[in-house]
Amino acid sequence: MDFTRRDALRLGLLGASSFLSWGQGIHRALAAPGDCVPHGTGEPPGPYQNSRFSPDIPLFDRPFEPMQVLPAKSVGPDLDGYTITMQKSQVEILPGKQTEVWTYNGLVPGPLIRQRQNSGSVVRFMNQLGTDDRGRGISSVIHLHGVASLPQYDGYAEDLIPPQYYKDYYYPNDRGATFWYHDHAIEHTARNVYMGLAGMYIVEYDAADFCDPSAQEQLPQGEYDIPLLIQDKRLTPDGQLWFNDRRHRGVYDDVVLVNGVPWPRMTVKNRKYRIRVINGGPSRTLRLEARDKHDDGSLEPVTLQVIASDSGLLSAPVATDNLRVGVAERYEFVIDFADYAGKDVLLVNPIFFGNIDGNLRSTQVMCFQVSDGAQDNPPLPDRLATLTPIDTLLSEVKAPIRTFRFERLGARWLINGKAWDPHRVDAFVEPCATEIWRFISTGGWVHPIHIHLGHFRLLGRSRLPIAPYERGQKDTFFVNDFETLDMIGRFGPHEGKYMIHCHNLVHEDHDMMTQFQVGTKGCSPCAEPARPLPAPTNFDAPQCVPPPECLAAGGDSGDSCG
Ligand code: C2O
Ligand code: CU
Repeated sequence: MDFTRRDALRLGLLGASSFLSWGQGIHRALAAPGDCVPHGTGEPPGPYQNSRFSPDIPLFDRPFEPMQVLPAKSVGPDLDGYTITMQKSQVEILPGKQTEVWTYNGLVPGPLIRQRQNSGSVVRFMNQLGTDDRGRGISSVIHLHGVASLPQYDGYAEDLIPPQYYKDYYYPNDRGATFWYHDHAIEHTARNVYMGLAGMYIVEYDAADFCDPSAQEQLPQGEYDIPLLIQDKRLTPDGQLWFNDRRHRGVYDDVVLVNGVPWPRMTVKNRKYRIRVINGGPSRTLRLEARDKHDDGSLEPVTLQVIASDSGLLSAPVATDNLRVGVAERYEFVIDFADYAGKDVLLVNPIFFGNIDGNLRSTQVMCFQVSDGAQDNPPLPDRLATLTPIDTLLSEVKAPIRTFRFERLGARWLINGKAWDPHRVDAFVEPCATEIWRFISTGGWVHPIHIHLGHFRLLGRSRLPIAPYERGQKDTFFVNDFETLDMIGRFGPHEGKYMIHCHNLVHEDHDMMTQFQVGTKGCSPCAEPARPLPAPTNFDAPQCVPPPECLAAGGDSGDSCG
């Protein structure tokens, strides 16, 4: 039997004070001051020691690995080109064993794309993944999550790239934020992402994105700007990834990978760092906290200053001790290590209600070893960006609120009682209309709901208080169990069919996904089908001519920096 929430309740593990003392107990047992090296075996005591779990891997033993940047080739004056081959590869996760992973360019996570803003890009994805363990071809779809792409480049789940095919995807890059590209193949997204098909795509901020253009310089940059992709995995004794969605309930595994490395340790200087974090799923909700470890083993919270959410900068930095990151959400936060030279700061993930936990190793994420000798440490700007006032958005709403109920029936996950059907559209939206959408979790499950195309704002939630860091622009909303959440935003600038789904990838695959349609004139999401390899030298020119974009493009050009 799995360790469930009921067991956790029975054991008194949930509840604020009990999880805190648990967390502290674990950290004390696992980590010694000054060296990031845990005491003991790294395995929590008692009932959690169970051969059903992954083999032991020492905590904070392996060095952190930054993502590798994929250089752009200039394809035209305002077009940057990239080429990515999807292929199997081997990596070492369990010491001394080789693990098969499915990769972009041989890397897990995929190569980091750092794209200049306001220049288009075209990314060629070539599928050389071959077959899975049952001999079936591995087809893929690429979705650049958070970017408002045309329908035919948005990674529609049915627009598959079969093995030995390729597709060129065009992206606008019209806003700065931390995005990610990942597999979106119908019914197989969870497995494909689990096997490694995910990577980060940063569109750089422009000085004009900030209230005060000099604020950009004040934020940590370059070697102090650290992208992290966090995922949990299960390994067999011989080191293979073991994808098991527990009859579609979800994947909650016990090896935490940060940029593909289990529980890494990173050497940092005693200054501010900016961390860009993506919860790469498939199912686990993260609640990130940083803790400073004292010589007596006790742990003090270290403040995180959140500066950006899914779709861009917040209006001002938000201080928090605890950052909830649902699957597919992104946050940028700044940690100031200035006071911790010679010490360790742990990034942890205390046990969370909505997860089904079997092994408390998942409460550990990574360790920062703080050295001294920082040259500078500029203060954070007080204000960051301008957001459209919610009242302005509210005054634009003409349509009634649309309601989406997220519910479980047997082993299936449904929206308003229905499963995915590519021939059905559940919401027809006027181009550039501002609408309020209501998401309801009817059961005891949390659902991170992702709406393609747009950048939206949280209006209210019924159970959890709105965290101040949730007040920025977002494309993924964490809906707690038995919660009703309202979001508001403009639907544009493109017309066409777009998906909305739960981003617990297991829920999405079986079948918590539907689609909406903006306007009537957009290109079909399947208008640019994949083509057989070998690919020509030049990128394929777009074929479908889209209708003109509507104005006020989901944009956020608020009028004052107040
Ligand atoms: Cu990140 Cu429709 O997905
Ligand atoms: Cu869900």
